[in-house]
Amino acid sequence: DSIVILYSFLAFLFGSIPFGYVIGKLKGVDVRQHGSGNIGATNVSRVLGKKYGAFVLFLDALKGFLPVFILKFLGYPLEYQVLAGFFAILGHCFSPFLKFKGGKGVATGLGVFLVISPKVTFIVLGIFFSVFFLTRYVSLSSIIAALSYPIIFRFLEKPSEFTSLLVFLTAFVVVGKHYQNIIRLLKGEEKRFK
Ligand code: G3P
Repeated sequence: DSIVILYSFLAFLFGSIPFGYVIGKLKGVDVRQHGSGNIGATNVSRVLGKKYGAFVLFLDALKGFLPVFILKFLGYPLEYQVLAGFFAILGHCFSPFLKFKGGKGVATGLGVFLVISPKVTFIVLGIFFSVFFLTRYVSLSSIIAALSYPIIFRFLEKPSEFTSLLVFLTAFVVVGKHYQNIIRLLKGEEKRFK
């Protein structure tokens, strides 16, 4: 269906807007040159402060939330919603505005999955915060949350093969984007959240 392809492309473009980078630039800072170098809420919070971090979290989550919510609101099937969400996350992670680099997809994923399955998302948020309060590593919390999502989703939502595959693929992208964090975690060099 060509409308679905066009819509997914628009979701990708919307996801590509690098809010963390733009807000950093407005403050005169290239967040890619500081902290972890990521454009996400965690690093913006590290570099510019929690207030800015929270704002970026909100905007990046909105990039995932809106495109999926619109489809759900209009009554499109879950398959289409997950596809648009997947492309929004891809846009965020591989933004053409940043030479196809980008963020790690956690906030945008949160926005997408709040619409796809609030139930599973709240459980996974519980997992995220449990790991976070125990370790203070945002990256480790994100990785464990991303890995647990497709498993819990499959059990509680009984999705189609296509939906399951896309949800697994999303987790794969998010975890893959954390490879530098994984190396730092293994070396004991990852920074804890203050
Ligand atoms: O949202 C990304 C987070 O999991 C890690 O961010 O800046 O510590 O690499 P950062």
